[in-house]
Amino acid sequence: MGSFRYLSWLLILSVVLEGVTLEVQGLAINWGSRASHPLPASITVQLLKDNGFDKVKLFEADPEPLKALGHSGIQVMVGIPNELLEPLSSSVQAAINWVSQNVSTFISKYGVDIRYVAVGNEPFLKDYKDKFVKTTFPALQNIQAALIKAGLGRQVKATVPLNGDVYQTDSGLPSGGDFRPDIRTLMISIIKFLSNNGAPLTINIYPFLSLDADPNFPVEYAFFDGKGAPVVDGSITYTNVLDANFDTLISALEKNGFGSMPVIIGEVGWPSDGTPHANIQSARRFNQGLLNRINSGKGSPKRPSPPDIYVFALIDEDTKSVDPGNFERHWGIFYYDGTIKYPLDMGNRKSLVAAKGVRYLSRHWCVMAPQASLTDPNLPGGTSYACSYADCTSLGYGSSCGNLDARSNASYAFNMYYQTMDQRRGTCSFNNLTVLTVIDPSRDGCRFEIMIDTGKHEKAPSPSTSSRGKHVPSLLVLLHIVTLIFCCMY
Ligand SMILES: *[C@@H]1O[C@H](CO)[C@@H](O)[C@H](O)[C@H]1NC(C)=O
Ligand SMILES: *[C@@H]1O[C@H](CO)[C@@H](O)[C@H](O)[C@H]1NC(C)=O
Ligand SMILES: *[C@@H]1O[C@H](CO)[C@@H](O)[C@H](O)[C@H]1NC(C)=O
Repeated sequence: MGSFRYLSWLLILSVVLEGVTLEVQGLAINWGSRASHPLPASITVQLLKDNGFDKVKLFEADPEPLKALGHSGIQVMVGIPNELLEPLSSSVQAAINWVSQNVSTFISKYGVDIRYVAVGNEPFLKDYKDKFVKTTFPALQNIQAALIKAGLGRQVKATVPLNGDVYQTDSGLPSGGDFRPDIRTLMISIIKFLSNNGAPLTINIYPFLSLDADPNFPVEYAFFDGKGAPVVDGSITYTNVLDANFDTLISALEKNGFGSMPVIIGEVGWPSDGTPHANIQSARRFNQGLLNRINSGKGSPKRPSPPDIYVFALIDEDTKSVDPGNFERHWGIFYYDGTIKYPLDMGNRKSLVAAKGVRYLSRHWCVMAPQASLTDPNLPGGTSYACSYADCTSLGYGSSCGNLDARSNASYAFNMYYQTMDQRRGTCSFNNLTVLTVIDPSRDGCRFEIMIDTGKHEKAPSPSTSSRGKHVPSLLVLLHIVTLIFCCMY
């Protein structure tokens, strides 16, 4: 009897424990808003919640996203763009103003759970040629001082999201990791400062960019299914570049006396369009591997406790700079409007949930007129004009619309322009080369978009206000109950 009871307790305990470990931990993601037609903030916050994201990173203190994140249960990292590093580095008062306007207000007035301030974004990227090398650390110090002055020193930590190119390995193996010689002293000062303030180091790691930059990069090694030739480093065998890259950083930290420095992965992801390696299949394969990895709770060989990993990114952004490549506008696990690109298992076999309540412009596409000729002298000028205002990155070589015939190719450009211009009158009239159609010209993975109606979203009551409206009676009842409890307690 006694042992039976013991056994049943054990059973209950193991069920409870299993429940705990099976509970999918929250996911973290980047939400950028460089879009001609941004998904409304309230819809985006619901999209985050519906898909289990409880941490989000913003690139700047955009008031709309921040307000919508208030009381959402989502923790926020709010970014400071590189252009602000200079003013923030030269004046403590500027930092105090920034924190007051962009952090304190949103915490106290809107209930936003801000946990981190990201000072700059990859400021030491080699491509920036030392532009932000002098200002980043002083800006970090000023922001930290301002947070303390605002009484937020414990609650909000300042960090600097850095690109993986701040460290390297001469041996080619993770164990050879150390910081880039030109910024090594600076890195050590920054890490010491972060460590003293209980703040983490934030690093962005991009297996995709390694592959994109190097035609000889072993493709399979970028993914997580262990299909590539493993890299043996002493007693450790690496089967994917994320682990190898992360452990190169851990080696660099160990070598400089910061072996237990906490690290956040600020960005990692795979774009779905814009170059041959950026496609739906590879993006799905990488991001599914990444999610499985996050959900497994495993760390890297050298750091078994898993870091917070912010997936890059939530939605596509059609006005991002394409300097790094056409893929820049296609990092989203969702399209720009929150529709699903490819299926993903988010953990516990939960699949992706699309954005709800999105309003679109009318179902009209602008296409090349049947009677217009491909040899019309106005055609090249027309399409290049359209593409200088609208996002035509899907038309490139190896991209989702790269195989269209010449007529459809021109139609794509004209339609993108028409939609980007909100279907305004006169924006589908390229010297009589175009007509409107109600037949969706999309085919074979090439999407002819209809844009979000941003005007309608502004005018219409946002879904959160209308649902709040509906819940007023139950809220009142709740308030009543709370009052009753308090009345009888005292
Ligand atoms: C708050 O942040 C925004 C966006 O980064 C910036 O434009 C603005 O100048 C900031 N406020 C202050 C007082 O610095
Ligand atoms: C497709 O359109 C783009 C952008 O207008 C243009 O650069 C390209 O030459 C076109 N390709 C074909 C096959 O017509
Ligand atoms: C467009 O077509 C109309 C009717 O055929 C004609 O009157 C007009 O001149 C044309 N416009 C241009 C720019 O070719």
